[in-house]
Amino acid sequence: MSSRSFAEYRAMFAIDDRDLDGVVLDCGGGASGFVAGARAMGARALAADPLYALGAAALADRLPADLDRGDAMIDANTDRFVWEWYGSAERRQEMRVNARSEFMADIRRHPASYLAAGLPRLPMADGSVDMVLCSHLLFTWAGRLDREWHRSAIEEMSRVSRGEVRIFPLVRLGDSEPVGFLDALQADLRAEGLVCTVRGVPYEFQRGADHMLTVGEPRR
Ligand SMILES: C[S@@+](CC[C@H](N)C(=O)[O-])C[C@H]1O[C@@H](n2cnc3c(N)ncnc32)[C@H](O)[C@@H]1O
Repeated sequence: MSSRSFAEYRAMFAIDDRDLDGVVLDCGGGASGFVAGARAMGARALAADPLYALGAAALADRLPADLDRGDAMIDANTDRFVWEWYGSAERRQEMRVNARSEFMADIRRHPASYLAAGLPRLPMADGSVDMVLCSHLLFTWAGRLDREWHRSAIEEMSRVSRGEVRIFPLVRLGDSEPVGFLDALQADLRAEGLVCTVRGVPYEFQRGADHMLTVGEPRR
């Protein structure tokens, strides 16, 4: 379970102020600071992740080891990462630590904003949010989650969103290679009438991972 900050989310998903006018769901939210950061700006957001079923105390216990595992993976594959966006490893670490604190404070204060739920089934009504963001879950784990699973997961996020679903990154964890079934998956979704677009974003950490997939149309 990793812990990206609100600032990283803004960049990964090219979020502007209008995107924060409605309710935003962070799906596979982990220990991200997105909901806390949105709340601090007066925006409305919630997150879903199966791990929220553990409760805040157990999450706090497991977070340091999870974050250390992520850092070890980066240390073992340094050539697959670029640091321009962060500026330095120290700055990235600082963002992680702050995001984790903001997440822990927010989930304790506002537990109802954190749904214990996992794709491909979300216990939410059709069209109940204005945008869904999905960071480092789909495509990241394409080694173990196949094209059919991705299709079901995207259909489900599209069901609960009145507007767009945005997914980042479009490469696999570990080798940072593009996902082989991305084109075929987009064809599957287009055949169901869903509009799919690959868009550049102002963020790159895994080398070459500077695009997101959007599904559906913005609600503006
Ligand atoms: C690499 S973490 C990313 C966390 C956060 N989005 C971020 O970018 O910092 C992936 C998250 O997806 C969650 N996850 C795993 N399976 C899931 C599922 N089926 N549905 C929703 N979330 C899931 C994990 O528990 C984990 O917190």
